[in-house]
Amino acid sequence: MDKNEAIRRRDLAVLWHPTTQMKDHEWLSLLPVSSGKGVWLEDMEGKRYIDAISSWWVNLFGHANPHISNAVSEQANRLEHVILAGVTHEPAVRLAEKLVAVTPPGLDRVFFADSGASAVEISLKMSFHYWRNVGERGRDRFVTLSNSYHGDTLGALGVGDAGLFKAAYEPLLMEPLVAPSPDCFALPRAQWDAHAAGKLDQMREILETNEGRVCAVIVEPLVQCAGGMRMYPPAYLTGLRALCDEFRVHLIADEIAVGFGRTGSMFACEQGGISPDFMCVSKGLTGGYLPMSAVLTSHAVYQAFYDEYTTMRGFLHSHSYTGNALACAAALATLELFEQRDVLADNRLLARKMLAAVSPLKDHEHVGDIRQTGMILAMEMVARREPLIQYDWKERRGISVYQYAMTQGVLLRPIGNVIYFMPPYVINSEEIELLAQVAIAGIDLATREQA
Ligand SMILES: Cc1ncc(COP(=O)(O)O)c(C=O)c1O
Repeated sequence: MDKNEAIRRRDLAVLWHPTTQMKDHEWLSLLPVSSGKGVWLEDMEGKRYIDAISSWWVNLFGHANPHISNAVSEQANRLEHVILAGVTHEPAVRLAEKLVAVTPPGLDRVFFADSGASAVEISLKMSFHYWRNVGERGRDRFVTLSNSYHGDTLGALGVGDAGLFKAAYEPLLMEPLVAPSPDCFALPRAQWDAHAAGKLDQMREILETNEGRVCAVIVEPLVQCAGGMRMYPPAYLTGLRALCDEFRVHLIADEIAVGFGRTGSMFACEQGGISPDFMCVSKGLTGGYLPMSAVLTSHAVYQAFYDEYTTMRGFLHSHSYTGNALACAAALATLELFEQRDVLADNRLLARKMLAAVSPLKDHEHVGDIRQTGMILAMEMVARREPLIQYDWKERRGISVYQYAMTQGVLLRPIGNVIYFMPPYVINSEEIELLAQVAIAGIDLATREQA
């Protein structure tokens, strides 16, 4: 038995994997990874795979990046972790200062946590608690977009709209008000702004009808990633900020997946020229090294909690690993890499190359949409283009592409029938070409099969 197979067997005897029907692994092989370098992962027998999805969208500057690795190892030899209640340390302070400096204006307080979902929970609690602290106790609703995803803990799941993830837990979840997503699936770019404007009208109706009852609107700016890399234009964000101001509700920007350069700007909100009241960041924050998240908010929000202890206005929320020093060091090193070269300009070039490389799919009879926002490129397989008919999700055609790509040394992880590239920013032209060739051949294969 080779080393890959040996570890697979041990794994399946004890592990329970995330977002996985474990029975699938009776026929779907686990990939045992022993090391990584740049965009490449290596299995236990030395076979290499391009990490086309940045290991669930977290990796920005490649695996085993020497700059980040050194920073983490130096920090580990000085201070690995210390409680952050009543204690402070230089890496946490420096990181908070840097985050305030790189995020949109007005976000000048940083609350650390340890995962994307925990950041979302914090933003929801802070918004709700803010309104109580300022005496508006009638506000207890959140508005979300259809097809949104904000994490898997109960609060975050509750403000998401990903049916597949939440159906089983419905009785435990809060009920958000759901506004239609401005998702521009299969629309030509020229129609995106008009489409989004129509969806803003529907958002207005919801805010009007529920005036005085809403704490916040929560959105994934520009790309609904887990919802299938569905995209919409910056104009929606601009309009949404104006609506939130008009109806005096908070805007929570969940930049967990799209922050740190993914969409072409450092943060997606910048493209709409807006500052949210809360911004959640995670994933790329530590360059994909360590679990960490942060919620940034305004001075005004912070002030509403600032009072004598006995008034119970304080934000009494914590996670044991809040402000972990190793994670702070990884995040600081990641932000330094943005300062060392013009990453966003280089990414623009890479993004153009990605799009050019998949151009043969433009006329493919089973590719209904090729869409791109910065370093996210998605191709959606459909049963028919005209009139548009989507594949039944139960056919699981994306898995066929995944399986083919694995044989070719590419790790793609489709979302349903959506194949996407979201690679580390250190990918080169040849690697992009390989990704595209494999995706094209895989899509051909998967869409030729009969249901
Ligand atoms: C937009 C968004 N919010 C929240 C989360 C949850 O983050 P985590 O998996 O770190 O809890 C994700 C994860 O994919 C995400 O894409």
